[in-house]
Parts: sequence; C-alpha cells; structure tokens
Amino acid sequence: MVGAGRAVKERVVLITGAGQRLGAATAARLMDEGIHVLVHVRSSVDAAKQLIEDATQRNGEVRGTIVQGDLTVDAEVDALIASVKAHPLVKANGLFGLVHNASFYSQAAFEEVTLETFRSLNRLHMEAPFVLTQSLLTDVEQGGGSVVAIVDTSWGRAWEGLAHYTASKAGLRQLMLNLAGELAGRVRVNCLAPGAIMAAEWEAEHFASVLEKVPLGRSGAADDIASGVHFLLTNGTITGNVLHVDGGWTLNE
Ligand SMILES: NC(=O)c1ccc[n+]([C@@H]2O[C@H](COP(=O)([O-])OP(=O)(O)OC[C@H]3O[C@@H](n4cnc5c(N)ncnc54)[C@H](OP(=O)(O)O)[C@@H]3O)[C@@H](O)[C@H]2O)c1
Repeated sequence: MVGAGRAVKERVVLITGAGQRLGAATAARLMDEGIHVLVHVRSSVDAAKQLIEDATQRNGEVRGTIVQGDLTVDAEVDALIASVKAHPLVKANGLFGLVHNASFYSQAAFEEVTLETFRSLNRLHMEAPFVLTQSLLTDVEQGGGSVVAIVDTSWGRAWEGLAHYTASKAGLRQLMLNLAGELAGRVRVNCLAPGAIMAAEWEAEHFASVLEKVPLGRSGAADDIASGVHFLLTNGTITGNVLHVDGGWTLNE
C-alpha cells in the first residue's frame, strides 16, 4: 500500500522521546489528526499520560499508547522493539511512521567531553535509530509508512562546545539520507531540521542572541515542528529530503 494511502484510522506512528517539548507537540498533533501514536518515553511517564489524556478529551477516543525505554541501553531498545511489534494496532496495520526524535543536548568544551558522553550521544542519535529502523522495517513496509529523523541545522558548521552533539546529529542525517536511497520503493525516509525553536534550560539567556541571526527574527513554535513531521509522513512523494524549519537561519550562516 502506498504510504499516504492508508486510511487515517489505521495509521500508527512511533515517536521517540515524545513525553515532553517538541516530541509531545508532534504526538499531540498526530493524535488530533486521527493517528494512533506510540508515545515513547525514557522517564517522562506522567507527562505522557497527561498528553494522551488531553488528546482523549479533545478527540473522544484514546489515540495514544506509552512505550518506554532508555535508547542507550541495548536490552531496553530490544524490549521497546518487542513491545511495539506486540501492539495490536501494529500487528494489524504495521507502522505508518517511525519518528526518531529523542535527543540529548549539552554544551561542554571539547577537552571536557568524556568518551562515555560521546558514545552515549552516538548511541542515542545514531545506533538507536539504526536498530529501530532495521528492526521495524517490515512493520513500516506493512503500514505503507515512512521514517522521519529530527536532526538540526548544525550540519557542516562549527558550534562552540557542541562537537559531540553536532557530530552525532550529522551521522543521523547521513544515515537517513543513505537509507532514503537504499530503501527507495519500500519506505520513504526524510529528515526535519529545526532551528531555534525551544531553548534548553541551560541556554535560555544565549537564545535571544541566537534569534538575532534568524531572518524571521523570532523562534519557531513547537507546532511548526509537529506540522512539518505530519507533512513529511503524509506526502507520499517526498523522500531523501531535509526540511528546514528554522526561520531562514541557514541563509545567514
Ligand atoms: N529544541 C530546539 O529548538 C531544537 C533545535 C534543533 C534541533 N532540535 C531537535 O528536535 C528534537 C526535539 O527537541 P527537544 O528540545 O524537544 O528534545 P529534548 O527535550 O532535548 O529531548 C527529547 C526527549 O529525548 C528523550 N531522551 C533523552 N535521552 C534519552 C535516552 N537515553 N533514551 C531515550 N530517550 C531519551 C527524553 O525523554 P524523557 O523526558 O522521557 O526522559 C526527552 O524528553 C531533538 O531531536 C532535538 O535534537 C531541537
């Protein structure tokens, strides 16, 4: 079945790291569009419960299921994959979408970044998306679905204290673009690159100076990311694309 052709009520999408912030906004948007969302969390169980409850109130039916696991721990990734495959809606309809959103963002001088931190980011941003995509590929094919990875606009440039983060995100981007070619005709694969959308707690003060470089002169909204993901999931012709949702930031770099 062609991706965008599956009936909305049969669509199931797994979003990693969806308990709060941009992932939660994306989950809410997809649930409101009639899609059943497997809301993956590591620790944000209560927030995810509230997210699903709020969507249930809005829509009059339950459209979310919480799935859990630390994506840097192999056994937990395996357990997550098993729980996704065992979900009755996935068994019946496959997966319409697999959204690699989970992330960890921290700034540190290069000399202070430990190998443990570097490996952890590679596991979260590259290994987990690799294993999840490989293991769930038949389910995505069954669902006439596609894969979307949330990368960022750091590609190809130097950012103070962020080499460990930008390198692993660049790896994710390349993994996805390579797969878009390799899997063409089976599943579509795309990336969405947010610009300055929602500041991390540690960069709140710095965020204002970042916005001065953004042509639109303001941050984006969480729903701009959510609608971008929905667009990539439902447009049946786009593959191998990196959709920048960044207020034109990349124009000025
Ligand atoms: N915020 C922005 O303006 C911005 C800019 C550029 C790119 N992005 C990208 O957009 C995406 C969403 O951004 P965000 O700021 O909303 O993300 P975020 O808050 O930094 O992280 C999203 C979720 O990732 C999960 N996570 C972290 N470590 C994990 C682990 N070891 N195993 C499993 N899950 C883990 C956390 O889940 P729990 O809470 O359940 O622990 C967290 O809620 C990310 O991929 C980010 O890189 C964001």
